[in-house]
Amino acid sequence: MPDEPETVTVRGVTTTGFGIDIGGSGIKAAPVDLERGQFTAERVRIPTPHPATPDAVAKVVAEVAAHFGPPEGIGATFPGVVRAGRVCTAANVDPTWLDTDAAATFGAAVGSPVFVLNDADAAGLAEARYGAASGERGVVVLVTFGTGIGSAVLLDGRLVPNTELGHLEVDGHDAETRASDAARERDDLDWEQWAKRVAKYLRRLEALLWPDLIICGGGVSKKAEKWLPHLSRVRSRVVPAALHNDAGIVGAALWAREQGPGVR
Ligand code: BGC
Repeated sequence: MPDEPETVTVRGVTTTGFGIDIGGSGIKAAPVDLERGQFTAERVRIPTPHPATPDAVAKVVAEVAAHFGPPEGIGATFPGVVRAGRVCTAANVDPTWLDTDAAATFGAAVGSPVFVLNDADAAGLAEARYGAASGERGVVVLVTFGTGIGSAVLLDGRLVPNTELGHLEVDGHDAETRASDAARERDDLDWEQWAKRVAKYLRRLEALLWPDLIICGGGVSKKAEKWLPHLSRVRSRVVPAALHNDAGIVGAALWAREQGPGVR
């Protein structure tokens, strides 16, 4: 039985968007109240198909959209560089995505426009509007720790897209292969051991960018008290993300509203 999304109307304008977060293990979606940055109905989650080829993922995108309506103002995240809807890198996803026009592929499957952006960029937009970076001036870097490490760089609340700082080289390694949440699980690290790797990564990042604020996102942001206190010798202010795992969906919906026709 489909969820009935609540439509939010403010001063006669509908402010409900729709976000889809495409991850390595799940594809999650929800309608979003863009005044508040909150879901207006319970989110749905469908396991990511394997292999996660463009056609297989597009089918699931169409399924989650149909579940809600189909909704309007659809935004979707992708775990790689996305320029004008086209996928440019595929570090942690099926290589058939390279050079695929994700926006066109999803749009054809859903039957209405879908606006696509990098997953960490979506989280950064959401945190800037509704969360830990709300009202922050200066340079803010959000890093998401999951299967890989994603990054979003904001200057006075405006996004510099596709920064890919998770691939900085640290001790001769691609940082995400050592300091992602997947690396913590793979190497069976306790929180303190993992925090050491994260701190080393953040020190490298701040030596290059000197951010005013670093926000740590991804699923591990819900357990920030376990590892954030162990980040030593990081000079920037470091805080956990406020929207946790919802940030991708909320940021995607926001992006669609900002990119789509009838921008309000
Ligand atoms: C990708 C990024 C993505 C991050 C988190 C990295 O491997 O290169 O584009 O944001 O993973 O999914």
